[in-house]
Amino acid sequence: MTKHLYFWFSFTISFIFIKLAKAENYIVHMDLSVMPKAFSNQQSWYLDTLSSVSPQSRAETNINIPFSKLIYTYNHVIRGFSASLTPAELEALKNAPGYVSSVKDRSVKLDTTHSFKFLGLNSGTGAWPVSNFGKDVIIGVIDTGVWPESESFNDNGMSDVPSRWKGACESGTQFNSSLCNKKLIGARSFSKGLIAHNPDITISMNSPRDTEGHGTHTSTTAAGTYVKNASYFGYATGTARGMAPGARVAMYKALWNEGSFTSDIIAAIDQAITDGVDVLSMSLGLDEVELYEDPIAIATFAAIEKNIFVSTSAGNEGPDVETLHNGTPWVLTVAAGTMDRDFVATLNFGSKGSVNGWALYPGNFSSSQFSIVFMDACDNTTALREVKQKIVVCQDPGGDDSLSDQVNNVQLAGNTAGVFIVNNVDISGQTPFPAIFLEQKDGDAVVDFIKSHTDPKASIEFKKTILGIKPSPRVTTYTSRGPSYSCPSVLKPDIMAPGDSVLAAWPTNIGAAVVNEDTLFSNFNILSGTSMACPHVSGIAALLKAAYPDWSPAAIRSALMTTSDQIDNTGSPIKDIGENLRAANPLAMGAGHINPNKALDPGLVYDATVQDYVNLLCGLNFTAQQMKTITKSSSNNCSNPSLDLNYPSFIAFFNDRDAKPNSTTVLEFQRSVTNVGDGSSTYRASVTPIKRLKVRVEPDVLVFRAKYEKKSFKLSVEGPRQLKEAVSFGYLSWEDGGRRHVVKSPIVATSYKIEK
Ligand SMILES: *[C@@H]1O[C@H](CO)[C@@H](O)[C@H](O)[C@H]1NC(C)=O
Ligand SMILES: *[C@@H]1O[C@H](CO)[C@@H](O)[C@H](O)[C@H]1NC(C)=O
Ligand SMILES: *[C@@H]1O[C@H](CO)[C@@H](O)[C@H](O)[C@H]1NC(C)=O
Ligand SMILES: *[C@@H]1O[C@H](CO)[C@@H](O)[C@H](O)[C@H]1NC(C)=O
Ligand SMILES: *[C@@H]1O[C@H](CO)[C@@H](O)[C@H](O)[C@H]1NC(C)=O
Ligand SMILES: *[C@@H]1O[C@H](CO)[C@@H](O)[C@H](O)[C@H]1NC(C)=O
Ligand SMILES: *[C@@H]1O[C@H](CO)[C@@H](O)[C@H](O)[C@H]1NC(C)=O
Repeated sequence: MTKHLYFWFSFTISFIFIKLAKAENYIVHMDLSVMPKAFSNQQSWYLDTLSSVSPQSRAETNINIPFSKLIYTYNHVIRGFSASLTPAELEALKNAPGYVSSVKDRSVKLDTTHSFKFLGLNSGTGAWPVSNFGKDVIIGVIDTGVWPESESFNDNGMSDVPSRWKGACESGTQFNSSLCNKKLIGARSFSKGLIAHNPDITISMNSPRDTEGHGTHTSTTAAGTYVKNASYFGYATGTARGMAPGARVAMYKALWNEGSFTSDIIAAIDQAITDGVDVLSMSLGLDEVELYEDPIAIATFAAIEKNIFVSTSAGNEGPDVETLHNGTPWVLTVAAGTMDRDFVATLNFGSKGSVNGWALYPGNFSSSQFSIVFMDACDNTTALREVKQKIVVCQDPGGDDSLSDQVNNVQLAGNTAGVFIVNNVDISGQTPFPAIFLEQKDGDAVVDFIKSHTDPKASIEFKKTILGIKPSPRVTTYTSRGPSYSCPSVLKPDIMAPGDSVLAAWPTNIGAAVVNEDTLFSNFNILSGTSMACPHVSGIAALLKAAYPDWSPAAIRSALMTTSDQIDNTGSPIKDIGENLRAANPLAMGAGHINPNKALDPGLVYDATVQDYVNLLCGLNFTAQQMKTITKSSSNNCSNPSLDLNYPSFIAFFNDRDAKPNSTTVLEFQRSVTNVGDGSSTYRASVTPIKRLKVRVEPDVLVFRAKYEKKSFKLSVEGPRQLKEAVSFGYLSWEDGGRRHVVKSPIVATSYKIEK
């Protein structure tokens, strides 16, 4: 496993403990079909139910009780409400008529301008002109709020807001509704859940204004407009723009510096559905939770029913397997890759020696020559402190924390600059002091130079940006890996998009860097994480939505996945930094790296209806109550239970640990594809060989006579009941004549067993 060092510009979610009040927030699912006719609406029924379960004694406990136990009544995302309940009230509620289920409100974690060129987006041809840059598609972003003054929200030249839009721009602390425009068409905030958790809280910025920066960054990554001469202290200079510069943005702030809770997030999704967003972008998630207990999965089911495309982040807990969140079958789950851009500094030594190393130091640095000294592992802090006015060179000896210890030691010693020789390390984020990270061979040259001179000197030039880096993209170490905890039979993540060192807009009053002890400000910032990868896909999905308004979310997802790239810019398989640069497997990057131009013309799509998702839930053997919680319906049709969703990827588990040696089994997948190309066409199947497995496709030729015609096929994988390899993989491709379309799906065979 590769070591990694991230200077996360961290978003910390404060956990608030309420010692006094025993009441806690719950999201409660109700069966509306049993609501007595006497109630005119669901809210009055919920209020009545709550007062019936609430003993008088609660008012006598001398605790600061919120006026109403009811926090939110939800209209779309669930049938039910959120409320603050004592254990006794919760128990009483469980016996109330119409009660289905409840989960405790949970804290949520965020997964924290060149990328458009890297993805091949071009004003003249391809996805941008065909989709009219995503014109009029509305992207709802659930995040930390927005900095509306950013140039990236400039609405010059945009047409009037579509009349179907029902959203609003809410005023509040330092936020005037006049701050919205034709680009940023909505801004709302949701904090009732947070306040119910801590009734005494003072929210410092009670409005949609972003006090963290994350939401400004993600929303402009998805749909920021053109900003010339954008840069981060001289790095990544150029014209910045989002993936869908013609799309509109609506911000739903549900993540606060004071805390973030699912009750607020699903209220935001509920409102976004009412307002009429087309795409939802959520760079956040809940780890290790079943679908029927994951409010985000449940709320997005409602969004899919309304044909809203949902893009989510996989999480930053890689490179271990089974770390992924949002492994929800109806959303798109995005992994983070690198771009072909590096930020570097040049170390000049001797008369003609010079090497480049990774660097993202935002401060100014003297162009003078300094003495340079080799300090081995830089673990002797006394010795480091004795070295004044010198560039120190450190060799990373390897080990879990050795590099971050070295970096800390040099920073604390106050040396002029640090040169860190590292091996295969995935580094991202700003450094608060002049630091440069060299590959071993370059480091060796520097160390040789130092050792062979009596008074060695060197200089460093920071703030350089290099494009065309090869190989790229690569899978980042931190991106969370599948299989999905909540639904292992659907291969996750789905796709990879740029997530490393992404430049996007930033609030000008929030620190974008720290140099020495000083905070620096900038209207753009460079961040890394699956949080940054997710909005890239949200923007590209908006382009597809503009081009094909009638396509279902599943059809758009399929187009994105089956046209993605598995090959990097050197023509080799995409590599995984977290796996010692071995070829990346689909549990890390999904189907491949997103290719927006190809996604516009996928040829065939694997579509799925809401009933297909219901069949999947039935296949998971969920109880009627769990089904009802997710689908909001008390009459789910479970006549066709199936774990085999019509999905553009395949995962086959060969994990029977009790199997007799050499015994084999055949796993079958039934799929259907819809011809979205024009007219008739003939597709032939080809499968890349997978070691120890026999993969068959029947039939292996599909003849389509008309657009939107559907054809079915069966893919079977024969192999040992217990596979030796943790993961083996290959690809199924459907190709029409002349390879005009290649519809490619990953096939994963694995011996993993999800332990719950
Ligand atoms: C909001 O902005 C408008 C137009 O700039 C101004 O007239 C109004 O007074 C502002 N409202 C508040 C509450 O600041
Ligand atoms: C771009 O911005 C930099 C720093 O903000 C400034 O020095 C430079 O003059 C700008 N260039 C153009 C062409 O506007
Ligand atoms: C770096 O130099 C520029 C131009 O002289 C100046 O505007 C900026 O404040 C300096 N940055 C720091 C961190 O001192
Ligand atoms: C650390 O460096 C100091 C000063 O150069 C030296 O006296 C000491 O022996 C070193 N410690 C170790 C463990 O090498
Ligand atoms: C669901 O139940 C059936 C019948 O008992 C069983 O064969 C199947 O393995 C179960 N599926 C899951 C996902 O547990
Ligand atoms: C359930 O779905 C099946 C097809 O999958 C259909 O034949 C049947 O009529 C449905 N049952 C109900 C009650 O809708
Ligand atoms: C399993 O197969 C291997 C290789 O084909 C063979 O050497 C071995 O004897 C087999 N074991 C059993 C128990 O049949």
